[in-house]
Amino acid sequence: MCGIVGYVGHRDVVNILINGLKRLEYRGYDSAGIAVFNEGAELICRKKRGKVRELEHSLSEEPLSGKVGIAHTRWSTHGAPTEINAHPHFDCKKELAVVHNGIIENYQELKDSLIMEGHNFVSETDTEVIAHLIEKFYENDLEEAVRRALKELHGSYAICVVHKNEPHKVVGARLDSPLVIGVGKNENFLASDIPPILEYTRDIIYVENGEIVTLEADNVTIKNLDGARVEKLPEKIGWDIGQAEKKGFPHYMLKEIFEQPEVIKRIINTRISGEKIHFDELKISDEDLLKPRNIAIVACGTAYHAGLTGKYMLEECTRTPVWTDTSSEFRYRDPIVNEDTLMIVISQSGETADTLAALREARKRGAKILAICNVLGSSIARESDGVIFTHAGPEIAVASTKAYTAQLATLYLFTIYMARLKSALGEDKIKELLDEFKTIPSLLETILLRYKAEGNEISHYAKDFKAYYEKRHTKSFFLYLARNINYPNALEGALKLKEISYISAEGYPAGEMKHGPIALIDENPWVVCIVTKSRTYDKMRSNIQEIKARGGIVIGIITSGDEHIKSLNLNYIIEVPQVHEFFSPILVAVPLQLLAYYVAREFGYDIDQPRNLAKSVTVE
Ligand code: G6P
Repeated sequence: MCGIVGYVGHRDVVNILINGLKRLEYRGYDSAGIAVFNEGAELICRKKRGKVRELEHSLSEEPLSGKVGIAHTRWSTHGAPTEINAHPHFDCKKELAVVHNGIIENYQELKDSLIMEGHNFVSETDTEVIAHLIEKFYENDLEEAVRRALKELHGSYAICVVHKNEPHKVVGARLDSPLVIGVGKNENFLASDIPPILEYTRDIIYVENGEIVTLEADNVTIKNLDGARVEKLPEKIGWDIGQAEKKGFPHYMLKEIFEQPEVIKRIINTRISGEKIHFDELKISDEDLLKPRNIAIVACGTAYHAGLTGKYMLEECTRTPVWTDTSSEFRYRDPIVNEDTLMIVISQSGETADTLAALREARKRGAKILAICNVLGSSIARESDGVIFTHAGPEIAVASTKAYTAQLATLYLFTIYMARLKSALGEDKIKELLDEFKTIPSLLETILLRYKAEGNEISHYAKDFKAYYEKRHTKSFFLYLARNINYPNALEGALKLKEISYISAEGYPAGEMKHGPIALIDENPWVVCIVTKSRTYDKMRSNIQEIKARGGIVIGIITSGDEHIKSLNLNYIIEVPQVHEFFSPILVAVPLQLLAYYVAREFGYDIDQPRNLAKSVTVE
């Protein structure tokens, strides 16, 4: 979590840093700060509690200018989100400033010994120890002092550091938190991610663990922790900043929901030619894919829900045992993973700390690792044996939408690919599935067209919910029920809603209702039932009857034209087009996303940046 930016060049640094922070706010947004060398080469700092716009506002009242500086947007780990805990942090003499993303695990012992040596700490953060350590080792060479300080640190970090004696330099380093260099003409950039840089240059170098970077306007030097030079050439980034902008939508989340047909089209065009499926960047050979006798799928949050759906797909079509786990649980339960395991890690950002740690653990135990990942050059993509990129484009809203359906689409194609390799499905069946898969973008367009206009049905349901919620003295909440391959969508629908509307929401396999959740049913809950045509359709109908009999309000997600279900007098109906039940999760996901979006909008919440969350969770 947290986003950092550093700049050395010829432009107004404040502008670059503030714009950069805004593009990194998805990583955290509880406070922000900058440190800049002004025209007189003095190191000036500004910090503000709250979002980057608060900092921007204070800078407009008291302007600052310069050509070199560093900046930070924070997601608190150690210490409350106060101004004093906001980054940058300083040494005792305020000669150097540090911004940091990550967690220093041994900060308490370092802090205790630095205090014994006479250092004065002002914040509650782990980061401040980095500033004091660099101060301790500083002998007119910032890069060397940073190197010595890093050797003392345990944990994870991406940092940018400036020192008043070297006002033309920014020094950066990373260990397990992302950091990229943007190489420009007489200007260079450091940032946690590419969007802050892309407006100025497409030439990017990914900083690796254990590397220290020194940026000057006309020079970038990369060395390892032993001081040896590392030579690297920049890579060209293929997407542009327009893809990371709102394009007329009121929120990134809505824009990203509406991009889904295009994303799935892109996946089809990239992966399917004729009857063939190809994953050109996947470096694992077919022989190696065939060797493992079981598949493990590990991920966090929304990516985990995609993984759960993947289990249904892969088991059904490839007849291979598949288990799934959240990355944070996997790590600590001594998992049975070995050379017989193909481990699939799924991650939009490719930087989620728990997923990265799970990947490393499984690799140590001999598993082959296949990453399904959205961000090129990310840690997870680089550390896996093979990677399949999801091509969803940059996802900015904290609540994941298009990355989810891109993960589902990728898992479908990987499943069919594996089924063919294992001869578990015949060519006729594969052709039938691929033909149906190719219709998904237009089916998604049909759904989105229906729910595009202001005042569409789902937005009305959201309005009704708010009125009902207030009438029931805020006792209303949501339950999401589904069965089989749509059960993970029940979890995802509930997650989307609670993430952005702060209303309690639980997802359940409908068959488990009688084992507990039915006790919650009275007039308070709104129960979203996914009851599209499938092998479990009749069972879902019975569940709906049980809920209606107890006074629950039901929103049914149904197959278009299903008149039969309407006889159950559902309170609200959302229709999705008919599709093979195997592919229905991709279609059903969209109204679930829209329902969450409209409920949050009705309550007037900050949809793209919900409280307490961050898009990329780079700490445990
Ligand atoms: C955070 C985000 C979620 C995301 C999860 C996993 O919780 O808010 O949207 O699903 O992390 O992230 P990843 O980048 O690994 O998919």
